Amino acid sequence: MSRHGSVRTTAAVFSLISICVAHVVLYARAQANTRGFISIDCGSPPSAGYVDVVTWLPYVPDAQFVDAGVSHNISAEHAGMIDLKLPRLYNDLRSFPTGARNCYTVRSLTPGTKYLVRATFLHGNYDGLGPGGLAVFDLHLGVNFWQTVNVSSVSDTFQAEIIAVVPDDYVQVCLVGKKGLGTPFISGLELRPLPDTLYPVVANASLSMAVHGRYNLGPDDEKPIVRYPSDPHDRVWKVLANLRSWNPANTTGTVRYVAGDQFEVPSAVMQTAATVDDGFSLRFYWGAYESNKELDYFAVLHMAELRRLNGSEARICEVYLNNGLWYSKPFSPEFRYSSSMFGMVAGSTEYSFRIEPTANSTLPPLLNALEIYVMVPTAERATHGGDVSAIMAIKAKYEIKRNWMGDPCGPKIYLWDGVGCNYAISSAPRITSLNLSSNGLAGEITTLLSNLTALQNLDLSHNSLTGNIPEFLA
Ligand SMILES: *[C@@H]1O[C@H](CO)[C@@H](O)[C@H](O)[C@H]1NC(C)=O
Ligand SMILES: *[C@@H]1O[C@H](CO)[C@@H](O)[C@H](O)[C@H]1NC(C)=O
Ligand SMILES: *[C@@H]1O[C@H](CO)[C@@H](O)[C@H](O)[C@H]1NC(C)=O
Ligand SMILES: *[C@@H]1O[C@H](CO)[C@@H](O)[C@H](O)[C@H]1NC(C)=O
Ligand SMILES: *[C@@H]1O[C@H](CO)[C@@H](O)[C@H](O)[C@H]1NC(C)=O
Ligand SMILES: *[C@@H]1O[C@H](CO)[C@@H](O)[C@H](O)[C@H]1NC(C)=O
Ligand SMILES: *[C@@H]1O[C@H](CO)[C@@H](O)[C@H](O)[C@H]1NC(C)=O
Ligand SMILES: *[C@@H]1O[C@H](CO)[C@@H](O)[C@H](O)[C@H]1NC(C)=O
Repeated sequence: MSRHGSVRTTAAVFSLISICVAHVVLYARAQANTRGFISIDCGSPPSAGYVDVVTWLPYVPDAQFVDAGVSHNISAEHAGMIDLKLPRLYNDLRSFPTGARNCYTVRSLTPGTKYLVRATFLHGNYDGLGPGGLAVFDLHLGVNFWQTVNVSSVSDTFQAEIIAVVPDDYVQVCLVGKKGLGTPFISGLELRPLPDTLYPVVANASLSMAVHGRYNLGPDDEKPIVRYPSDPHDRVWKVLANLRSWNPANTTGTVRYVAGDQFEVPSAVMQTAATVDDGFSLRFYWGAYESNKELDYFAVLHMAELRRLNGSEARICEVYLNNGLWYSKPFSPEFRYSSSMFGMVAGSTEYSFRIEPTANSTLPPLLNALEIYVMVPTAERATHGGDVSAIMAIKAKYEIKRNWMGDPCGPKIYLWDGVGCNYAISSAPRITSLNLSSNGLAGEITTLLSNLTALQNLDLSHNSLTGNIPEFLA
């Protein structure tokens, strides 16, 4: 009994200490957040910001970023899972039963910054419809198609992640429904700025890349995903379940990367690897999305030697893709330093990689981590920034709802009702006409209209607007 009692006491003391520690950490992490992370919990009550207990990152409600949709909690039976293993983000969501396109607008960004943008989804039977409530819909980054999201399970989480240069001081993420394929919804939206030196393949706003797979190889299957703070850039590294023919290897020593590394894979990911039996090759493959040969993929293989080899040991490998040599020369991973082999692959329905030991290699090949991206053309321009800020202010002043969501001019099929635009080839679209006839507008005629500097036609008839026609309209 007394022994039991003393254990309890110890436990109580422990939890007190951990509470104190938590406060300190919370403060430190709040500081760290000046790195520009933006973490939005979609559908959470408007006053309910919080600090996530796994990442110590602060999350904010979504009300200030979106003006449509309906908040829901996931059902009680699915909420039970949240405490066990999932971030709180997944507790609630925002669904969009109306409107062809619904958008989140995140402001006050630095134009030209590279971002990792992550949208997350857990249906959790929020609508009580079970599998009947599942949905397939498109995500757009601004005016460009990003990817299709197929939420094909009530209880699984889905993530869409894109690395893109954001050209303006704001970015929009839009959900676009598909006829007969359910109601779009979203659980979370996270933006993480990346240094220019990371993923230089994304050089400007015209080409982005969406995650097809980002994997940590070799850990115990039980090991949770690696993300912030182990990865300061908060990439999500999922465990690629060990295949039967793979042998896991690991080290507790830190695996580093050299200054200027293009990937900065965290040590927690590089410390484990998959190898194979002597004489075998290490293989993996993926199928092109919808067997589409036109898609360009970007593949990155990360390797680091995990133990110090003696003079008579050598691990040398060659990498083949679909039977051709992919990487031009034999390769030896460095002891506890990351090296990466990367390149664009395209033109096939299946990409089959084989890492072979060379004849003079005494050890089998190894692979610590793997990233596969699909390239996404994002060259279509958003509307002229001054026009956007003016029309947004006009929308707010007169509380105009209609379909005024996302970019006013693009893509053309989602052009705002009553707005006309001029599309030039080399510059951003401009708003050239505005028809607010019969919109029930009341109050003064706003001078904000003069901010639409390319406006040629304006129709304000059949409203209850008062005051003189301002000079700029004459
Ligand atoms: C979700 O649950 C929280 C607390 O459990 C509650 O405060 C909130 O009002 C609920 N939201 C909705 C949309 O029902
Ligand atoms: C969504 O995924 C499910 C399961 O993978 C599949 O059966 C279904 O055809 C997919 N729907 C669309 C529209 O791609
Ligand atoms: C954008 O980057 C691509 C390479 O990814 C390059 O070919 C293109 O010229 C660049 N465009 C601009 C406008 O700099
Ligand atoms: C590292 O390897 C040992 C022995 O093979 C294993 O027991 C341990 O779980 C591994 N650790 C991780 C993090 O995979
Ligand atoms: C090097 O290591 C291998 C495998 O551990 C061992 O069989 C071999 O004897 C070692 N050679 C030397 C020179 O230490
Ligand atoms: C191993 O063999 C490859 C050719 O397969 C050769 O390029 C390389 O120099 C050799 N390395 C060593 C350490 O012998
Ligand atoms: C309208 O234009 C004025 C003058 O250029 C500028 O100061 C103001 O910020 C603009 N307002 C909006 C909402 O764009
Ligand atoms: C504005 O829209 C109304 C109907 O919504 C239409 O009757 C009117 O002709 C339009 N004005 C112009 C200038 O096109």
